Amino acid sequence: MKTKLIRVDAEDLQDEEKSDSAKRALEEAGEIIRKGGLVAFPTETVYGLGGDALNPESSKKIYAAKGRPSDNPLIIHIADMEHLGRITKEVPQSAYQLAAAFWPGPLTMILPKAEEVPCQTTGGLDTVAVRMPSHPVAMEFIKAAGGYVAAPSANLSGKPSPTTAKYVVQDMDGRIDMIIDGDGVDIGLESTIVDLTGDKPMILRPGYITEEMLDRVLGQVEIDQTLFKADSNLHPKAPGMKYRHYAPKGELVLVEGNPEAVVSYINEQTRMRKERGEKTGVIGTSEMAGRYEADSVKIAGSRKDEAAIARQLYTFLREFDDEEVAYMYAESFAGTGMRQAIMNRLLKAAGHKIIKLD
Ligand code: TXA
Ligand code: MG
Repeated sequence: MKTKLIRVDAEDLQDEEKSDSAKRALEEAGEIIRKGGLVAFPTETVYGLGGDALNPESSKKIYAAKGRPSDNPLIIHIADMEHLGRITKEVPQSAYQLAAAFWPGPLTMILPKAEEVPCQTTGGLDTVAVRMPSHPVAMEFIKAAGGYVAAPSANLSGKPSPTTAKYVVQDMDGRIDMIIDGDGVDIGLESTIVDLTGDKPMILRPGYITEEMLDRVLGQVEIDQTLFKADSNLHPKAPGMKYRHYAPKGELVLVEGNPEAVVSYINEQTRMRKERGEKTGVIGTSEMAGRYEADSVKIAGSRKDEAAIARQLYTFLREFDDEEVAYMYAESFAGTGMRQAIMNRLLKAAGHKIIKLD
């Protein structure tokens, strides 16, 4: 299959001269979806791999293109509140409160599914994941596609989610009909998932919308504790969280402790690896920049700038793969707020290998 690559910037949609051709391009992308094809598109979190959510054949194609197990349900992306009713039944008041606070934006809600949503889209579950993204290109594309776009992250199963079109091309060229290049994403980690079908709202995947932010709107919100534990007998509640996602090719270890001890430990390890002729990498912060001795040092910005760390994390992991780095060490970012999301992805990428120094 030949994959068509088009470029549409969010700003083009606002630009008097460029908006017509940008909309025409997205119209063409939408038509591919309506005819049962697949299009990768930018969102504010990561790139998505879209298909018609109401067409079971499209969902099957998504699983095939990603090499993803078909029991792992897809998120349905909408661009209009009116469209929520068709894919859900019994929408609780809490969903409207969260939508008012965080949609469009990086929040996915799990709700009871309507008959019309094919079981291929929800991996056989009777619940459905719904999100309204805020990226202007995503919004316009979803509308052009008929309103209901099922989309997992646009990576091959097991790889970090793509945050630029370059990595979508790397994984999906030849496997899908079109890739919309909308430049780098804003957030860099997948949406927060909150399950509203149980007694209490439960976070199944931490993200940019934090536990504290959800608490403020809903009162008590729980978080799936298996997310932070290494025990393979515990099953996370979001089916996708059980897979070893976000994995770089080399081995990643997180190192937690006081900054001086962390730098010494990492340098000791990288020296030993280098002596054996193995390529090493580090993900660190600007406070410690210049101190690391690894072959490839990625500085995420200040420790205080969580958004910058989140935005670059997957790019760093992909770059390490491109550079064929065999052993990687990352400073730990344990904490509250967005750090929950950063640590959740880092722990998964590291297969839960974490060294705690004191
Ligand atoms: O930010 C995002 O959410 C991105 C962009 C493209 O929107 N999408 C994304 O999709 O991360 P994906 O497929 O990579 O992750 C979806 C997660 C999986 O872990 C899946 O198991 C979970 O959502 N999920 C989907 N439907 C579910 C359901 N009905 N119940 C529980 N978990 C569900
Ligand atoms: Mg994914």
